[in-house]
Amino acid sequence: MKLTTKLLAATAMISASAASAVELEVTHWWTSGGEAAAVSKFAEAWNATGNTWVDGAIAGSGGTARPIIISRILGGDPMGATQLNHGRQAEELIEAGMLLDLTDVAEAEGWKDIVNPPTLLDACTLDGRIFCAPVNIHSWQWMWLSHQAFEDAGVDVPSNWDEFVAAAPALEAAGKVPLAMGQQPWQSSGAFGVMTIAIAGTEAWLQVNRDKDADVAAGPEYAKVFEAAVTAREMAADSNVQDWNLATNLVITGQAGGQIMGDWAQGEFQVAEQVAGEDYTCLPGLGVNEILDTAGDAFYFPKQDDPEIEAAQKEMAAMLLSPDVQVAFNLAKGSLPIRGDVDLSAANDCMKKGLEILAGGNVLPSGDILLSPDTQGQVEDLMVEFWNDPSITAADAQARYAAIIADAD
Ligand code: GAL
Repeated sequence: MKLTTKLLAATAMISASAASAVELEVTHWWTSGGEAAAVSKFAEAWNATGNTWVDGAIAGSGGTARPIIISRILGGDPMGATQLNHGRQAEELIEAGMLLDLTDVAEAEGWKDIVNPPTLLDACTLDGRIFCAPVNIHSWQWMWLSHQAFEDAGVDVPSNWDEFVAAAPALEAAGKVPLAMGQQPWQSSGAFGVMTIAIAGTEAWLQVNRDKDADVAAGPEYAKVFEAAVTAREMAADSNVQDWNLATNLVITGQAGGQIMGDWAQGEFQVAEQVAGEDYTCLPGLGVNEILDTAGDAFYFPKQDDPEIEAAQKEMAAMLLSPDVQVAFNLAKGSLPIRGDVDLSAANDCMKKGLEILAGGNVLPSGDILLSPDTQGQVEDLMVEFWNDPSITAADAQARYAAIIADAD
């Protein structure tokens, strides 16, 4: 090849690569130790492509971050990419045409064949077009127990909710907080959901959350859950922390017996170098009903009228679901990958339990998929009020809950 052509080709390459090196601001609410360790896997992978990850972490968890993210997009100050949960949080943005259509990426990458369960893609599909890149499966249906706390209290580590409740007096006598619970509304609301599935059962939970059946919400199965919630409230009375990971830290440091929290808590145990089965125990479904819900995270890409950014957004979307990136991120995050064709032999015992349950199909859609953000917000407001006011009885709370479900969407 003549020299000039070689030179021309070389300059074109450089300008192309220089041209394609794009900075993408990525917003998310992954700010705890474990979350930061996990999201750094995405940032490293993206920076390795020659592009630049501009981190837009927002503290305070989803309840704080989501309104900020959505108002920036609606307000014409879009980020390059953003985390949201699987489900209906981006519904209005998709309908308003403000998010990038990723259908061509999904087809090129074969997402329809690799994403499991397929509901993760359905949650962001409108009129057959795909608008998100799902990156993990997180489940709320877990309880985390501190071996140190139970040893100090001189009682065995419980294997289910009833044994946990029975151990509470011994924990208190040993100066422990039986149940660690952060004060943010989504935490008490999430814990209530987990107790519902374990105590009222899957069918009752589906009748309320999927079918919006207020009679079931006002019925005897749910009455048992509200009674158990009163007990849980008492067990968490001395848990004076805000953020979920500070509550997890009470378990990690043996100051609290247990926490009901999604498996994102795993990232915190990992950063603390604690070993599942040795330092802590994880109970799926509170040891009563071994089940997962398919909550978790997906990335959305606000539209920008810049073909270079759009090309980079699509490149990032494909990267997020690529096998190596999926393994690196999910092992650090404590979540399950959205694709089944990857090697997770490095997963810890709790993740392996989760994979078994997922493979067994004992899976429920998450509340984020079934309930509108508005209905979820109303439930969160009720739960945080109930959790902080011992004068609200189980019957009062149940009646108010049933009224919310009667108008739910
Ligand atoms: C959830 C999110 C998880 C987790 C958690 C706590 O909404 O899906 O990835 O990090 O918030 O911040």
